[in-house]
Amino acid sequence: MTLQTDINSAAAELKGKTPQEVLTWCLGNYSKIALASSFGAEDVVLIDMMAKIRSDAHVFTLDTGRLNAETYEVIAKVQQKYPQLQLQIMFPQAEAVEQMVSEKGINLFYDSVENRKQCCYIRKVEPLSRATKGLDAWITGLRRDQTANRSTMETVELDGDRNIAKINPLIDWSNEQVWEYIRANDVPYNALHDQNFPSIGCAPCTRAIQPGEDLRAGRWWWEMSNQECGLHVTSDGRLVRAKG
Ligand code: ADX
Ligand code: SF4
Repeated sequence: MTLQTDINSAAAELKGKTPQEVLTWCLGNYSKIALASSFGAEDVVLIDMMAKIRSDAHVFTLDTGRLNAETYEVIAKVQQKYPQLQLQIMFPQAEAVEQMVSEKGINLFYDSVENRKQCCYIRKVEPLSRATKGLDAWITGLRRDQTANRSTMETVELDGDRNIAKINPLIDWSNEQVWEYIRANDVPYNALHDQNFPSIGCAPCTRAIQPGEDLRAGRWWWEMSNQECGLHVTSDGRLVRAKG
């Protein structure tokens, strides 16, 4: 059976299921599976759901070295609340970062889109490749209404670059549903969410939004199109979705 066939049957199996049902099925069916967590609102929801299904679930985070203090605080709270969780903290390759910042400056990302993409590649995309190496599937907190690129995503997809399954259990959820879950289950969350930061990435590339602004308007705000850092697009700019 090809991976695409596998993905299609998983997609058929999981159609219309709740995020908890999707996670239960995936944790039971993929032996090497991990959640990619930035510790934003969606990801802490998934951590809580996964820990209730399997207390030693595997979670990795990409510590770019440029995260907000509040992000490290929520990581510590999660480690306290879910002590059995297998949390793997991935760092970028030190030499690559050292070379980049010595050649282009510590805040190179403000100077050009090319520099920003280089920084995201070195600090996030390359560590993501190492974190997902050997996995059968990775789980994300993506939601369809976050960006135009995400509007066509599905619960189960083939990640063509990594050749593994990509599972998006909250793809159909709204921002309101995420926050209802956090409140109802008393889940630790990033304190910046209470300061008008609906979407949180690295500190220098994230700011608060104004009332009425798009939820991602605070990400890479100085660029004309500020949707994606490269974690969720393949090298040819698309994801292959399950059919059926
Ligand atoms: S980004 O591509 O714009 O940075 P976003 O912040 O919306 O992504 O997060 C979408 C999903 O990508 C998260 O739910 C999480 O699964 C994954 N992700 C984003 N940043 C990280 C990170 N630093 N470490 C691990 N996973 C991440
Ligand atoms: Fe670098 Fe900003 Fe990308 Fe973080 S979000 S990796 S600081 S360019």
